[in-house]
Amino acid sequence: MTDESKPADGLNAALLERLGNRSIVFVGLMGAGKTAIGRRVATTLGLAFIDSDHEIETVSRMTIPELFERYGEAEFRALEQRVIARILENGPLVLSTGGGAYMSEQTRKAIADHGVSIWLKADLDTLMERVIKKQNRPLLKTADPRAVMQKLMDERYPTYAKADVTVATRQERKEVIADEVIAALRSRLGLEDETPVGEEKQ
Ligand code: S3P
Repeated sequence: MTDESKPADGLNAALLERLGNRSIVFVGLMGAGKTAIGRRVATTLGLAFIDSDHEIETVSRMTIPELFERYGEAEFRALEQRVIARILENGPLVLSTGGGAYMSEQTRKAIADHGVSIWLKADLDTLMERVIKKQNRPLLKTADPRAVMQKLMDERYPTYAKADVTVATRQERKEVIADEVIAALRSRLGLEDETPVGEEKQ
């Protein structure tokens, strides 16, 4: 059996038990690593992983840039809200949300009702280094994407800070950040000093 597919060990089993039907929901800016870290956390815990942007592209049969271009941001946001609400009915799973999703009050409520939210917080250089490699973010198709990203940080960070857990992400291996996310989750769920399931104290 490979490391990737191993079942949850005692510590993770305790976390899953505490999580119940709630999902683990990643929020944060473009380039924060929500998809990469989310996928890794899902694999570690043996949960399904869903990326909301990917799901939106599947249901609309359009790419995110096409959706923005043809229908505009407001329509995209309405679809995003509906798609995330539906995904959250099927927990527990790991969901990574598009960077603007958590700005919707309705989506924040749905996440609070059905999940535990994790803000992957990153600095401007880290975000820019990651997003510069791809051309799939309509909001950054401007003459000065760095200035746009800075503006989004100013506008959004106070809202992202409402998430249940904040993990500072940086240029580090995703395994390391994913382990930090799981440790922060354990702490949030009150499991710091718990004995792993199957290893009860004598
Ligand atoms: C957006 C972030 C993108 C995508 C869309 C809008 C945003 O998702 O939903 O381009 O408003 O920050 P990622 O954060 O996954 O890049």
